[in-house]
Amino acid sequence: MYACGMDRGVGPRAHSHDVIVLGAGAAGLMAAITAGQRGRSVLVLDHADEPGKKILISGGGRCNFTNLETSADRFFSANPHFAKSALSRYTPHDFIALIERHDIAWHEKTLGQLFCDGSARAIVAMLLAEAAAAHVTLRLDCRITDVARPDRFHIETDAGTVIAHSLILATGGLSIPKLGATGLAHDIARRFGLAVVPPRPALVPFTLAPNDLARTQNLAGVAQPVLARCGGTAFREAMLFTHRGLSGPAILQLSTAWHEAAPITLDLLDRADHPALRPRKRARPRAALRTIMADLMPARMVDAFIPANLAAQPIGTLPDHTLDALESALKSWTLTPAGTEGYAKAEVTAGGIDTRGLSSRTMAASAVPGLYAIGEAVDVTGWLGGYNFQWAWASGWCAGQHA
Ligand code: FDA
Repeated sequence: MYACGMDRGVGPRAHSHDVIVLGAGAAGLMAAITAGQRGRSVLVLDHADEPGKKILISGGGRCNFTNLETSADRFFSANPHFAKSALSRYTPHDFIALIERHDIAWHEKTLGQLFCDGSARAIVAMLLAEAAAAHVTLRLDCRITDVARPDRFHIETDAGTVIAHSLILATGGLSIPKLGATGLAHDIARRFGLAVVPPRPALVPFTLAPNDLARTQNLAGVAQPVLARCGGTAFREAMLFTHRGLSGPAILQLSTAWHEAAPITLDLLDRADHPALRPRKRARPRAALRTIMADLMPARMVDAFIPANLAAQPIGTLPDHTLDALESALKSWTLTPAGTEGYAKAEVTAGGIDTRGLSSRTMAASAVPGLYAIGEAVDVTGWLGGYNFQWAWASGWCAGQHA
């Protein structure tokens, strides 16, 4: 079924490898290909029945595989400069060159986000073809039960023990357990003495407390452009009301910066000129405030955010200071999310293996010779829009150059 070598048993030749990669996702496959191209014998282990499952569902099935605006300031990490080296050594243009060699058509959607014209399957097929050409062996449906390092790395699996000089942790984060996400990389890292920045769901919708939901419950499905802020982080994109809270790109982006109990502030009139209401009062004094507001936000939002007694009045009868107060409340709606929709809905996991214990050039653990960590398992989390795959490709390539 797959282009690269399948190895479901442990024969004498399969027993020992230069490199074992745990995880056949974006990062693990890229690391395996790169190491294989250097002539290393590489075995990739994954418990799933198919490689690259998250690639397949990404970008609505078209895989937003990179972003032309990639730079380290588009990533969250406790060690903000860590990603610079890898991102500058394997760039979006390197990945574009790779997919063009495989005749995969692509387009820029918006904000530098690149998508396949066709199916995300083409990306997985390309990675498997590259892996086959680099003589990488892929073993799926494989449970990893233990990892030890008496001398080399010994990986115990339900199909026997495999041994390698180098071990690359690429099993991703905790997001979407239904697709097989586990904390294996974090557990192994801790076992070898590496620190792990507490993982949390990111690029995830917020849930709201009952008092906030009372205002928004009739707004599910309504979208509005906003400026969303939390601490020093701000995103200007669309927000979407849901039955349980808030979503949409602005909110997903902000969730990565959010910590429990932190308030967020939303400018609901971000696209309007400011001041918005006084000039409209001068221009159309007889129009009801509700009619004026409906130029600035969907009518259902007007009903939820403007008291009915005010909304019904002609705007010309309302004092400027009342309009100013209303406008300023809409420009800084401050609330504290009750929580998030959790790993079941989170596109990525923030936190992860602490990069302060890794080389930014090679992704190797400073304290454990031969151990590497890449991709989402590591405490580097990109913005929405292709950044997380670019991190997977770049960190995988760096580890594969060295392992
Ligand atoms: P990834 O999770 O891809 O791979 C890990 C592999 O390890 C999996 O194959 C898994 O089966 C395996 N594994 C896990 N635990 C194991 C265990 N215990 N034993 C053995 N194997 C194990 N990003 C982006 O840039 N553009 C996009 O369009 C999208 N879209 C998107 C949509 C949705 C719905 C989600 C959930 C996520 C995205 N992302 C995204 C994020 C992106 O998918 C993610 O950041 C990368 O897949 C991370 O790649 P990794 O290889 O690090 O982990």
